Amino acid sequence: IPVEAFDLVIIGGTGDLARRKILPALYQRFNAGQIGKKSQIIGAARGEMTSEAYRAFAEEAIREFLDKSDVKVRALKSFLKLLSYVTLDAKGETGWEELAGKMHSDRIRAIYFSVGPSLFGDLAKRLHKHGMAGEGTRLVVEKPFGRDLASAKELNQMLARHFDESQIYRIDHYLGKETVQNLMAVRFGNMLFEPLWNSQYVDHIQITVAESVGVGTRGGYYDRSGAMRDMVQNHLMQLLCLIAMEPPAKFDPDAVRDEKLKVIRALDPVEPDNIVRGQYEGDGERPGYRNQVESRDSTTETFVALKAHISNWRWAGTPFYLRTGKRLKDRASEIAIIFKDAPHSIFEEDGQRHNNILTIRLQPNEGIELGVTIKEPGPGGMRLVDVPLDMSFAEVLGPDEADFPDAYERLIMDVIRGNQTLFMRGDEVEAAWAWTDPIIAEWDGSGQAPEPYAPGSSGPESAMFLMHRDGRRWREIKP
Ligand code: BG6
Repeated sequence: IPVEAFDLVIIGGTGDLARRKILPALYQRFNAGQIGKKSQIIGAARGEMTSEAYRAFAEEAIREFLDKSDVKVRALKSFLKLLSYVTLDAKGETGWEELAGKMHSDRIRAIYFSVGPSLFGDLAKRLHKHGMAGEGTRLVVEKPFGRDLASAKELNQMLARHFDESQIYRIDHYLGKETVQNLMAVRFGNMLFEPLWNSQYVDHIQITVAESVGVGTRGGYYDRSGAMRDMVQNHLMQLLCLIAMEPPAKFDPDAVRDEKLKVIRALDPVEPDNIVRGQYEGDGERPGYRNQVESRDSTTETFVALKAHISNWRWAGTPFYLRTGKRLKDRASEIAIIFKDAPHSIFEEDGQRHNNILTIRLQPNEGIELGVTIKEPGPGGMRLVDVPLDMSFAEVLGPDEADFPDAYERLIMDVIRGNQTLFMRGDEVEAAWAWTDPIIAEWDGSGQAPEPYAPGSSGPESAMFLMHRDGRRWREIKP
């Protein structure tokens, strides 16, 4: 369904995110017929540039970051006509009048802050001063949303001076992933799972977001954040919320976000011996983390594994194990719900434990798998074996339907449509920092270095031990 004509300003329009994600996503939606020819997209940044040059910049980005088959010459040409450029100074007056003059007062105006959070305050102030903060304006704000509770609060307050919460769209791109939304569909669209979705039936839950890449060229940013701030506080926390939350009464922004917030607030503080952090080493081919960042003795973690407890009626007693890291064995993200063994086995010759496991593969190879126990074929008696009931989305839906749009396509269109369900509310972000702050403070205080791990491995030894000592084990990292 096409959206109404809108004005979108990308502040930081020549930056990396604009190139890799925002511009390609907008083109894709245009190509799909969802964005019409009357909408306009304005790139804004400090550097001098003509609109002509900006269109060339966008074309190059789109060609670089999309599959060849997605780039249609005619569609691309007419998409580029929506684009223009304004030289804009966040800390001065340059460009603001020009920008204001380009905006339509009767349209949705989306202002995308694709810049560091240190500029948010200035930007909000100037948008207000130049009459661009009123109804119809929506701010899109990228992560990192602060680096701790205090800075997140400050950002929230700065934005709240000129904008209402209903105008603020804080992006966590994991919520835009098709398979992440599927988590909610699976839980709340089926009768089958929800009655078992609690500590009485679930032994434990594993959430893995593994990457095979290292920090690459982002060392400058990454070394000041680490995996806890970069991944756990936001992406893994959101996944945990969607798995653990109570069924919202409606699929509407505040109903969903209220439930997520309750989960975060019910999380116990993590004790130091329930958390492991690691840092990848180098090998013959690839540099180790410390050789990719400025500080040769950096203690920034590139891996985190932890055991979390949610103290409420539904989950007390069921641990959530989370892990994420860079330079691991494979790029593979999944959530696994490991159910308890049957309370009593009637098959004496078997004598094994059998846990049903529901796995939601987030990426790549998106799909859902349910492990069930059946009889081992053959005349050998009642021996049992666990087999998967496997559903790959690509197989069931066909390759075209399962060719999921990028998370940014969905999220940017939600901004235009005014749907905040898949965006984080201010109090949610603050609650997540309130939980991560003490963990980071404890690391900073201890002065200890993270445990090294071999590139291409499953992370440091101690992460394995975190599970083994509970009589459990991590699932293999594989796509
Ligand atoms: C980003 C992090 O938010 O998410 C990156 O800053 C990480 O460090 C990325 O690589 C992972 O996203 P995806 O969509 O590739 O799983």
